[in-house]
Amino acid sequence: MSLALEKRPKISVIGTGYVGLCTAVGFASKGYSVLACDVDEAKIEKINRGLPPFHEPGLQEKLSESLAKGNLSGVVGQIDRVVGETDLTFVAVGTPSRPDGSIDLQYIESAASNIGRALKQKDTYHVTIIKSTVVPGTTQDIVKPALERESKKRCGVDFGLCMSPEFLRQGSAFQDTVNADRVVVGSFDKQSGDKLEELYRDFYSGHVPPIIRTTLSTAELIKYASNAMLATKISFINTIANICEKIPGADVKVVAAAMGLDRRIGSLFLDAGLGYGGSCFPKDVKALIACSKALGYTPELLDATENVNRKQPLKAVEFCKQQLGTLEGKKIAILGLAFKPDTDDMREARVIPIINQLLKEGATITAYDPVAMHMAQIIFKNKIQYAASTMQCLQKADCCILATEWPEFQKLTPQDFIKNMKQPILIDGRRIYDPQVFGKKMKFVALGLGQPI
Ligand SMILES: NC(=O)c1ccc[n+]([C@@H]2O[C@H](COP(=O)([O-])OP(=O)(O)OC[C@H]3O[C@@H](n4cnc5c(N)ncnc54)[C@H](O)[C@@H]3O)[C@@H](O)[C@H]2O)c1
Repeated sequence: MSLALEKRPKISVIGTGYVGLCTAVGFASKGYSVLACDVDEAKIEKINRGLPPFHEPGLQEKLSESLAKGNLSGVVGQIDRVVGETDLTFVAVGTPSRPDGSIDLQYIESAASNIGRALKQKDTYHVTIIKSTVVPGTTQDIVKPALERESKKRCGVDFGLCMSPEFLRQGSAFQDTVNADRVVVGSFDKQSGDKLEELYRDFYSGHVPPIIRTTLSTAELIKYASNAMLATKISFINTIANICEKIPGADVKVVAAAMGLDRRIGSLFLDAGLGYGGSCFPKDVKALIACSKALGYTPELLDATENVNRKQPLKAVEFCKQQLGTLEGKKIAILGLAFKPDTDDMREARVIPIINQLLKEGATITAYDPVAMHMAQIIFKNKIQYAASTMQCLQKADCCILATEWPEFQKLTPQDFIKNMKQPILIDGRRIYDPQVFGKKMKFVALGLGQPI
């Protein structure tokens, strides 16, 4: 049963990146009144014009709809106002890595202090929910003291505090927000948790996912454990891929498909390739390692997950050298720059170490991605060339590395490479091409594929 419209709480969201904006638009699209706040003026200006500041399928339509209905409004700064005018505040600011792998909590601390000052002025009950990924202990030991210090009020009595990690995937972020597999409600006290659970039950009404009620630190750890598991699955299958390459006739794709049919293993995240990137897995694995070491335990398995992932992209460079000898003066075409399809995000994209190494070895690079070109230009500036299309990227190339499995690259045929490249050599870094078809027509190297028998 959903709450009557007039009984619906008002929501605010602090930080309008992938998580914050999808949360804000998710609630607004279901009729809640939402204030979305960010310190980045340019971001808010775009959002208020109906333009998401990043590429995310389906988000623009829902954002425009929400603005048109008057359910959503972007606000620059003014945390006092957004907290004052709403009942629950989700905090979705960034938690980037520090050089030692631990997370930088400055944005969380600043948001918590600002919320605390706003709570001081407020006389109605308010719940703050940490949605950013933070290491166990952060909500209790950093956020709660900041809220209490600035508000001069008591957590669990005068205001509520929860930790509810986000599990969305970039590329399907909006859909994941409105159709979650599970929802975790970590709470400082029962009342805070009850308020948030009631909100989620209303938000998902009709198809409420399993709701896990737990402590703040368990909620924090669930997020890290989930991402560490997925990252480990990827490094595991990449390890098997590396073994397959030494075994004539072996193919990791077939191994993975057969493994995935075992319900104890499951088929997802068993795609061998150049490794995981993006803003979450690398950062979260590093943070869990750092947090665990600080607690006196060395998580060797996670160290191995990270090591495998660090070396994996450089295999594309090794393959290039095996095919071309020296790379000095060779023209390499790179197809795909985003860390995965359906996003323009290049944070920790696997092409970054690949391109840097190729440049170091004297190669010239031409790259193409359907949506991430503007991001690549910020990273590589004039060190590489940028093509306007796949075919232009392949022109006169000595070798092509397929680095991101965009659907438009999956449609390419051997003929597309043969007719455009100087010498048709393709390195399939994401296993999207059929070796039976490509291997017969051109020089074709794929990760996790042993020599034909
Ligand atoms: N991106 C993902 O796929 C994903 C998925 C799950 C969890 N997370 C976690 O969620 C958090 C946010 O991730 P993201 O990718 O959305 O980050 P992001 O970097 O895209 O966005 C963070 C936003 O917070 C804003 N901000 C910083 N300090 C602020 C303040 N004091 N007040 C208002 N706004 C402020 C920044 O300007 C920025 O727009 C991180 O902890 C991340 O690990 C991310």
